[in-house]
Amino acid sequence: MDKQESLPRELTETEAAAIEGAGLLANLGKRVIHVGGGPSTDQLLELGRFEPGQHVLDAGCGVGSTAIEIASRFGCDVTAIDIAPSMVDRAAANVRAAGLEESVSVRQGDILALDSPDDTFDRVVIEAVVMFVDRDRTAREVVRVCKPGGYVVNHEAYFVEETPDEVLESSQELFPGMVLETPDGWVELYRSAGLTEIEYVSGSAEFFGPAYMIRDEGLIATLKILGRLLTHPAYLRHMAWLGPRVRRVQPYVDYIVLAGRKPV
Ligand SMILES: C[S@@+](CC[C@H](N)C(=O)[O-])C[C@H]1O[C@@H](n2cnc3c(N)ncnc32)[C@H](O)[C@@H]1O
Repeated sequence: MDKQESLPRELTETEAAAIEGAGLLANLGKRVIHVGGGPSTDQLLELGRFEPGQHVLDAGCGVGSTAIEIASRFGCDVTAIDIAPSMVDRAAANVRAAGLEESVSVRQGDILALDSPDDTFDRVVIEAVVMFVDRDRTAREVVRVCKPGGYVVNHEAYFVEETPDEVLESSQELFPGMVLETPDGWVELYRSAGLTEIEYVSGSAEFFGPAYMIRDEGLIATLKILGRLLTHPAYLRHMAWLGPRVRRVQPYVDYIVLAGRKPV
């Protein structure tokens, strides 16, 4: 068995029809589930200034890929939380398959009401979560649990300036209630929440499509994901709805990876 290979349970027809995009991708076995894909995670890891022994929170960890990478590459202790029980199960299974139970603890948690005391973590990492929730409350919460002198690193998306109205409408069909700030808006969000020394990089949201999937997951894993998709009619039907909408929106979305320091 491949390292980190652990497949989710199969969804029923009703579950597959109702699941949101990230959940479907996770259930197909995809590991990188955010706009910008692997390259944006590389940028996030660079901006995060990780060092061995640091305590890191990955809030909205999805299937745990970035939490696993931070623990294995930098020797950090990672707490990974997600609000969705299915994501928590996937992340925990992936951590076990990677043999990292000592360094990565996974539990259910809400980024809007973190159950950690003030000043707990050296680093707080968030990838593609704040755009789906109350952003002012989230920013205050992640800054609260970050230690003075520590960094919050956040990857989110934004629409390019000339985005047509029909694309904005499609994006709401895909993710009802999603709010994308401009890059300045994301910076201001964290400045208001108390971070200083804010810096960011940005790039285009190249994520959905076979070439990006091979780049992020590798050829063998991509073939397995496609095999799983093609042999499950319920997944295929959902993907037939999702695919055209994501392809319509993707060219108008860029991502930002931002890091800021909590003052000492
Ligand atoms: C687009 S996925 C990104 C997952 C992961 N960070 C990644 O980049 O692969 C968004 C994740 O945020 C989680 N999420 C949404 N609302 C949340 C909340 N209030 N608290 C914690 N996690 C949340 C979802 O369950 C999902 O796993």
